[in-house]
Amino acid sequence: MEFKLSAYGKRSSVPSAVNEMTGDFADNFREGIDINLGVGYVNDKTIPAKEIIKAYNKVIHDPEKYRNVLNYGGAEGSVALRNSIRNYYIRNNIGGLTEKELTDYRILIGSDGATSILDSFADIIDPGYVITADPYYYIYTETLKRKGFNLLPIEEDDRGIRVDILKKTLSNIDIGKISFLYIVTVNNPTGTILSNERKKSLVEISVSLSEKLKRKVPVIFDKAYEDIIHDTEVPLPVSGLKYNTLDNVFELGTLSKVIAPALRIGYLIAKDNIICKLLIQRTSDIGFSASLINQEIASWLLDHHIQIQKEKVNLGYRHKSLAIQKLLKSKLGNYLSDLVGGSAGFYFYLTLDRIETNGGSRFNKFLSRTTGDPAIDGDPVKLPRLIYLPGTVCSINPAAKYQLRLSYGFEDIDVFEKAIDLIHEACDYSRS
Ligand SMILES: Cc1ncc(COP(=O)(O)O)c(C=O)c1O
Repeated sequence: MEFKLSAYGKRSSVPSAVNEMTGDFADNFREGIDINLGVGYVNDKTIPAKEIIKAYNKVIHDPEKYRNVLNYGGAEGSVALRNSIRNYYIRNNIGGLTEKELTDYRILIGSDGATSILDSFADIIDPGYVITADPYYYIYTETLKRKGFNLLPIEEDDRGIRVDILKKTLSNIDIGKISFLYIVTVNNPTGTILSNERKKSLVEISVSLSEKLKRKVPVIFDKAYEDIIHDTEVPLPVSGLKYNTLDNVFELGTLSKVIAPALRIGYLIAKDNIICKLLIQRTSDIGFSASLINQEIASWLLDHHIQIQKEKVNLGYRHKSLAIQKLLKSKLGNYLSDLVGGSAGFYFYLTLDRIETNGGSRFNKFLSRTTGDPAIDGDPVKLPRLIYLPGTVCSINPAAKYQLRLSYGFEDIDVFEKAIDLIHEACDYSRS
């Protein structure tokens, strides 16, 4: 006898490719032996544990400013946190938004990080096409697919999604089926930074689509990694809200990357409109509010510690990025045909020279020690395994089968050095 599942339930019964690939590793991952360059974990050393304890004590002992911190909160988010985010933007001139502009915009706190706001969007917008860059943020695109959306991935170059290709694509499809644009400003998996010109063009395209369709086509700019653009040569990102003539632009931020993922603080900045109202209702429906104590801790950290924190985090990732970039180039030699990323966030996106990286490939079997050859796999104890994200999980481009994402967030440089040796051996095996 079967259960009567919803359409979403039915689609969710097939585990996503990445869920399947990492599941096995996660279950029997051996600390200190296996290497995890697959998950998007931040570097534990960047998490300000002591400051979080201090913040906890401060907010617990200041009930006037931080009210009912261990109780339920409001679905829009804590007033203190929303003010702290606004002030953080003003102090740092983030996105070039002025105090006046930020006062006019509404800030909402998600129930569980930026992820929950993205998920809520998928619940309140009618399913259709979602335009995004290729390679794409595979976690959200999987959610979208399960919720009945169709992806329209558009190739990216070193300045982000190719607007010229997007325009051509739009002239060949039924634009009436477009739901929204989902644009990750520092792309995951590639680390590519969307240029300000492209950002402006994307908003213009959404306005033109909206006028043709006589309804607003939302653009979500996911700026999850914008706080960690560690290459100081990169021009400062301009907020997509600067081009917001139709109130269809939504900017999504998170404190996960710059403070700590476990706080689960994600926020949306947008003009006050129906979408904000619906998102707030959704937060209320699925948990009333984000954890209030975490919101107040985050508020205190933004008011008192973010400057030092941001500097420390960015210096750390810069150092790692440069060292690992050098190692990749020198150790992989001719096997490496392209390397993207390294200016922001903590991902490198590699293209290997005719070496397939997808699940079931020789390369993949070598690194997961599932070749069937005891000399390679290790017997009875498995030799060190390495987790990475295959390109086929996050791209429909035919070249994706030669690509992979490596995360340099979590593991230290010396572990990376070993990892690159393993990748070299896997390339040798793949060719042999
Ligand atoms: C592009 C992108 N958006 C959103 C998120 C999730 O952010 P949060 O931890 O706030 O849910 C991530 C996390 O890896 C991400 O890479």
